Amino acid sequence: MDKLIVEGGHRLSGTVNISGSKNASLPILAAALLTDEPVRISRVPDVSDTNYMIQILSQLGASVERSSGTVRIESPDGISSSASYEQVRKMRASICLLGPMMARMKRCTLPLPGGCVIGDRPVDLHLRAIQALGARVRVKGGNMVIEAPNGLVGTTVDMRGDSGPTVLGTDNLMMAAVLAKGTTIIESAAREPEVVDLANFLNKMGARIEGAGSRTITIHGVEKLHGCEHTVIPDRIEAGTFMVAGVMNVSDGLTLNRVCREHMKSISDLLVECGHVVEYNEDGTSVFVKPGERPRSGKILTNPYPGYPTDMQAQMTALFALTPGISVVKDTIFPQRFMHCSELKRMGANIKVDSGTAIITGVEGLSGAPVMASDLRASAALVLAALAAEGTTDIHRLYHIDRGYEMLDDKLELLGARVKRVLDEAGSVGED
Ligand code: UD1
Repeated sequence: MDKLIVEGGHRLSGTVNISGSKNASLPILAAALLTDEPVRISRVPDVSDTNYMIQILSQLGASVERSSGTVRIESPDGISSSASYEQVRKMRASICLLGPMMARMKRCTLPLPGGCVIGDRPVDLHLRAIQALGARVRVKGGNMVIEAPNGLVGTTVDMRGDSGPTVLGTDNLMMAAVLAKGTTIIESAAREPEVVDLANFLNKMGARIEGAGSRTITIHGVEKLHGCEHTVIPDRIEAGTFMVAGVMNVSDGLTLNRVCREHMKSISDLLVECGHVVEYNEDGTSVFVKPGERPRSGKILTNPYPGYPTDMQAQMTALFALTPGISVVKDTIFPQRFMHCSELKRMGANIKVDSGTAIITGVEGLSGAPVMASDLRASAALVLAALAAEGTTDIHRLYHIDRGYEMLDDKLELLGARVKRVLDEAGSVGED
């Protein structure tokens, strides 16, 4: 296991290229199982989650080649319909194999995902959707055994859960429905840009999907899909994380290239509301950010897209920790997602967490400390705090950040940060 040692207080400036989206790549890689023809996917970030997905696809029998961001996948007939616990336990997003496996093989056996640190993450909506298309679901030995011997048949499915629509649930249903008989209508569909990117990819494969990006998606089933080429959209959460770095008090201003302004609206708007400078180029593919002269506290209520993303609240909490005034962060999607707050408090932040809400009173400065990353976005928050803190911060359990940030250390160093990755003997103790 590695840890990251961050020497705080160095000035940040310069330009960074944003990678392709991790969350768009995962279902798109899984969707390659829908055809026996080769697909080529570009801008797949080299992070451990995409690597796990590629490993699972290979172990199922697909042939996968990866070279500098482009992944070529060919899934011949006869690939396995069963993934092992060992294969999928490392990544919750492996649930998005369910849709393509059911569409292609009409059966699959997938381990039931357990809980995770950001909360109990159920799959009831995924299962309800596949059952609505005619599949039978049994739980046996910790696995979901799902079968549709007569094939899948299109119908109308409402994907709304108690916390709003589900992103991967919408993806799964879309992937299951592309080869189903007849028409499937997804009501209360997730509108995230990653869902739209998947729909665009599937349509390039010959699917007939309309309405992705709206609350109602219509899928007309087709007989067969074919190979295609696709470039993944920019990672809006990586971009948001670097935007926060660019407005922290150690920044002289950063330029982020390869972004999509439209996807960044709620993230950009909040930074502007908090008094910071956010300037896009004309076509919205590059953005300059720098700290405002009088930064203000702010309020976040996470919501499904186009609302404020739950995946960006931890990073903003790190910014609010150093912003004068009282800020409030409420996460309605994952109300338990506040593990980073106790670590930020060890660095001197003043944060109270109660019933899914963090109340942050800005302090003058943070000081470096040994801290423990608990999940992907929590670790990003710790890195941001460490960049601005006085002294050195050791961030243990770095593997969390490696799940979703491509070449983070290199990118930060190019911007002037002092970071060093070292083998962490202590961090491997009590691994989960
Ligand atoms: C995706 C993202 C993740 C992001 C999350 C919410 C990927 C790989 N991951 O995760 O980064 O934080 O969207 O934007 O794209 N729920 C149920 N039943 C289900 C499924 C979900 O109740 O069957 C609930 C969840 O507990 C949560 C809410 O629905 O409260 C939204 O979760 P969901 O959109 O499904 O998250 P993921 O798609 O797993």
